[in-house]
Amino acid sequence: MRISLIPAVTYVNDDELKGKTAVVIDVLRATSVMTTAIINGASEIIALTEVEDALRMKDAKCILGGERKGLKIKGFDLSNSPLEYTRERVEGKRVVMTTTNGTKTLNKVEAADKIYIACMLNGKAVGKRLVEEEKDTVIVCAGTNGKFSIDDYACAGKIIYEANKFGKVELDDFAYAAFSAYNDHKDDIISLVKNAYHYKYLLSLGLGEDLKYCFKEDISDLVPEYKSGRIK
Ligand code: MLT
Repeated sequence: MRISLIPAVTYVNDDELKGKTAVVIDVLRATSVMTTAIINGASEIIALTEVEDALRMKDAKCILGGERKGLKIKGFDLSNSPLEYTRERVEGKRVVMTTTNGTKTLNKVEAADKIYIACMLNGKAVGKRLVEEEKDTVIVCAGTNGKFSIDDYACAGKIIYEANKFGKVELDDFAYAAFSAYNDHKDDIISLVKNAYHYKYLLSLGLGEDLKYCFKEDISDLVPEYKSGRIK
């Protein structure tokens, strides 16, 4: 199987996705939130691009979550902090989310056969799943405001590193570079990702605990899947 890597949502093209599996990464913080909500028993997550569409879905049975500029959206129940998506808050509930880069990226990769949600929290499980399914895969980094982001790159490197332990994978040049960066920094991943623009921005908002949480590795074996606008 072959893994290729796309640096940011801006570079997604449908022809590259057709017939393949896509893995979407937005470590800071959309896919970390989604994975956490599923770990904590959310029944499903609806990923939307627009705030107005999310507000229209507001009812007693669902929770609205997400951000703009990293902050909670007016009228929403939760921000985009994974630490807010506790079992007490989300178990058995539908979560409706909109974020600047993460939910947008999911909506852009719908040409793929299958779409998985990945982050550091489930990186090993994602790598294992890819090798078990032996299907050519495109890992898509959401990036930040359309640009390459080191945090997503580091996570892509981890998934490739894990996949490579489970079986033989062929890599394109960018996937190899991510693998190599993760391999060189795996004992202190923060030394790499602390240079990311979005890492520094979230730190400036006082969200250091989110950053620590999002870089915990392999706390879950769950691999959430996005299908027809819904994550389960
Ligand atoms: C996004 O989707 O742009 C991010 O998750 C932003 C954030 O850190 O909240």
